[in-house]
Amino acid sequence: MNPSKKQGLLQALRAIVGADQVLTEGDLSAWELDWRKRERGQALAVVRPANTEEVALVVQACASADVSIVPQGGNTGMVVGSTPDASGTQVVLSLSRMKRIRQLDAANLTVTVEAGCLLQTLQEACAAAGFLYPLSMASEGSCTVGGNLGTNAGGTQVLRYGNTRELCLGLEVVTATGEVWNGLSGLRKDNTGYDLRHLFIGSEGTLGVITAATLKLFPMPKAMVTAYASLPSLDAAVQLLGLAHQHLSSGLTGFEVMGSFALSLVRKHFPQQHVPFAGDDAFCVVLELSDHDCEAHGRALLESLLEAALQSGCVVDAVVAQTQAQAQALWHIRESIPLAQAQEGLNIKHDISIAVSRIPDFVRETDAAIQGAFPGARMVNYGHLGDGNLHYNVQAPEGADAEAFLREQEKPLNALVYAQVDRFNGSISAEHGIGSLKREKLAEHKSPVALGLMRAIKLALDPHNHMNPGRVLALEPLPSKIPGA
Ligand code: FAD
Ligand code: MLT
Ligand code: ZN
Repeated sequence: MNPSKKQGLLQALRAIVGADQVLTEGDLSAWELDWRKRERGQALAVVRPANTEEVALVVQACASADVSIVPQGGNTGMVVGSTPDASGTQVVLSLSRMKRIRQLDAANLTVTVEAGCLLQTLQEACAAAGFLYPLSMASEGSCTVGGNLGTNAGGTQVLRYGNTRELCLGLEVVTATGEVWNGLSGLRKDNTGYDLRHLFIGSEGTLGVITAATLKLFPMPKAMVTAYASLPSLDAAVQLLGLAHQHLSSGLTGFEVMGSFALSLVRKHFPQQHVPFAGDDAFCVVLELSDHDCEAHGRALLESLLEAALQSGCVVDAVVAQTQAQAQALWHIRESIPLAQAQEGLNIKHDISIAVSRIPDFVRETDAAIQGAFPGARMVNYGHLGDGNLHYNVQAPEGADAEAFLREQEKPLNALVYAQVDRFNGSISAEHGIGSLKREKLAEHKSPVALGLMRAIKLALDPHNHMNPGRVLALEPLPSKIPGA
């Protein structure tokens, strides 16, 4: 980009959001480096608008200068989707100042909130008003509503409440041309043509900028009871899940599985945490029951489930949290796994989904194939078993140079795992999205018809490929029609 055009754009951006909200100097790694430290980009500028009107003007200014935009929330994404590329020509549009909760409509059971609001802030505000906003994940203290929508995030309550898409009733979006679409109706029924909200949810910033959303609320359960169980195998975990559905019905709100090596990383990197059962069994499960009667009722239900499970042999040992603090400590073990894995070093993540019934076979076969082809590779296996979503992750062999392992083995290892995912009719991305890390894999694993439709949608909504280019789809920018650009 020629320097005078760049200065012209920076001047325009400063006029829109204020000079102190256009960052070009100093340490920008919070915006330029992805959470997993897989890629460091370089931004032309980080721009932080205060409201939707400013977002629209920023998008218009960038479009006029033929400059692309990377929308960013908390930058906790797992697939390198929210950081700029290395060209120094992309504007990072951070929504972090747009965090207002605009309206909580108790009768309509909805909340309308700006995209930069932290998920945890939203959960807490809703809880204070007596409602549950059920989206929940370990990154909730840093990730934003806009990022959750951009990735269609999942988390630990999906088996009862659905993923972000299912929690969203309406959006406000700044389009690639800088127009504002207000779709914040809060309606549960609206069959007036194409449902545009679903195009933007999960589009990872490639179609427009989400500036606000109307989301569903639920009555706060009277009690949430948590148990932690050790199991001899993944087959046993699937059996326990079946029993849990039978015994707890819609009260089952969490069912997370953790392999013994994943738990050993928590013990190693967070020795202050007490991880029950000392790694004796192959897998552990965190189970949560939400009860709309009372705590005693919930506890009795959960205990009767565990009794049945112990009798059938699918559970070897179990504890039920007696206090809220104990429940949090049990959940904290599960939530610490990604952090423990990051501490252990660079790693390969597979965020896959497969029909729950087929997961044990998938893991058995794929573990064996990986051990055959990549001896010593360490399997960090955990995830949202209740949704059929496994984080089937791989750490370099003990003592190996992780960077070299990834450089040399990531491609063939991914090819092996994703071929297995195809064989089991699964998905290569259950909840993290595609970003740039999985873009080539998407092209290999999605049908040509689906890819063609996705491409057509992208070109219709963002013909000049200004919105987060290079993410999700590989698309060359079309020649700009903007005079002088
Ligand atoms: P970012 O990382 O900033 O952005 C993610 C994508 O969304 C990018 O493509 C970006 O361009 C786009 N985007 C961001 N804001 C907007 C916007 N306003 N408009 C349009 N596009 C936008 N994910 C899960 O699904 N389930 C989990 O259980 C889970 N657990 C996690 C645990 C840890 C410890 C960590 C670090 C991450 C976890 N994640 C999980 C991944 C991540 O937190 C989620 O994907 C989250 O939704 C991203 O939100 P964010 O605000 O950080 O988005
Ligand atoms: C999780 O479930 O912990 C996340 O999706 C993060 C991860 O896969 O590392
Ligand atoms: Zn997850």
